[in-house]
Amino acid sequence: MNDSAARRQLGTSDLQVSAVGLGCWPISGVSSLGVTDQQSLATIHAALEAGINFFDTAYSYGYDGEADRLLATVLAGRRGDVVLASKVGIYFDAARQRVVDGTPETILEHSRTVLRRLRVEQIDLMYLHQPDPRVPIEESAGAMAEVVRCGWARYAAVSNVDAQQLSRFQSECPVVAVQPPFNMLQQQSVEKIRETCLQQQIGIACYWVLMKGLLAGKLARDHQFHPQDRRLTYEIYQGQAWQRSQDLLDKLRELAGELGCTVAQLVIAWTLHQPGISVALCGAKRPEQIEETAAAMPIRLDEKQLASIDRWLEDLRSP
Ligand SMILES: NC(=O)c1ccc[n+]([C@@H]2O[C@H](COP(=O)([O-])OP(=O)(O)OC[C@H]3O[C@@H](n4cnc5c(N)ncnc54)[C@H](OP(=O)(O)O)[C@@H]3O)[C@@H](O)[C@H]2O)c1
Repeated sequence: MNDSAARRQLGTSDLQVSAVGLGCWPISGVSSLGVTDQQSLATIHAALEAGINFFDTAYSYGYDGEADRLLATVLAGRRGDVVLASKVGIYFDAARQRVVDGTPETILEHSRTVLRRLRVEQIDLMYLHQPDPRVPIEESAGAMAEVVRCGWARYAAVSNVDAQQLSRFQSECPVVAVQPPFNMLQQQSVEKIRETCLQQQIGIACYWVLMKGLLAGKLARDHQFHPQDRRLTYEIYQGQAWQRSQDLLDKLRELAGELGCTVAQLVIAWTLHQPGISVALCGAKRPEQIEETAAAMPIRLDEKQLASIDRWLEDLRSP
């Protein structure tokens, strides 16, 4: 097995996953612009070719399971080669509004539907997508435990929780992984749970590693966004935050040049060197994006390079 195909154990599970996972939100076509089935299918193929075996989808990736159906098309006959993760407890209603629903009935129904769409009898990892403020988290966790008991998922996991929510969830349903947002510019969610995860050997599969493309370093300071580009709604894509991120990217570009890699690869490699991080989930809608992203897996950064980046990030935080 070459270095880029080296696997990491996910938490205490026996799942062996690639350090970069393919995030399937962009191919759902809900918010990314210019998504086509042809390009999405090519992206999934390219991920496999590049040594990725970990695929992250969800009940709500598409208004009607679009990401799952694309995955099922490519992965038919390759079930044994991949680790499939999905999430339940969020859906889009008839008006295409996003609804968080952590009731046990919905969790069980979403789980059955996910299996049907993916055309598998069991998936490897099922997350509660997000705690539902209207439902005690122990109740949602109880349903997730039931999903595992039924054999629909090998392991349970939970996404978007703080330390207290994680502990309450675990009182009803042990997890092998969590899924928080995490990137150079947004580390708070992981900081809240890192110690617990390290102590209990819970894997962290983090998302927004590239902050939806910002940290891929290809959006110039004066990039003209399409008016319908939803990234403009994120604070980090606006005003001073945008300018400061671009200042960081200038420095990252220089270091990436010295290392002979791209900014996206440097950012992902840095992420994979952070304590407790098991997997960087990276979204893509075109093959060349995931090819670039996957090539970050074998990159090793030394102490000096890591310290330089940490210093730049520290400078960014100081007023
Ligand atoms: N648990 C949760 O609540 C949650 C929430 C969000 C995401 N996730 C998971 O985490 C995954 C990652 O998040 P994400 O997909 O939203 O964002 P992301 O990985 O931070 O960014 C993906 C976007 O970055 C751009 N990109 C990717 N590779 C690139 C490259 N090599 N060069 C230039 N641009 C590149 C593409 O956007 P353009 O082509 O449009 O520029 C792509 O759609 C998701 O797909 C999903 O599986 C989970």
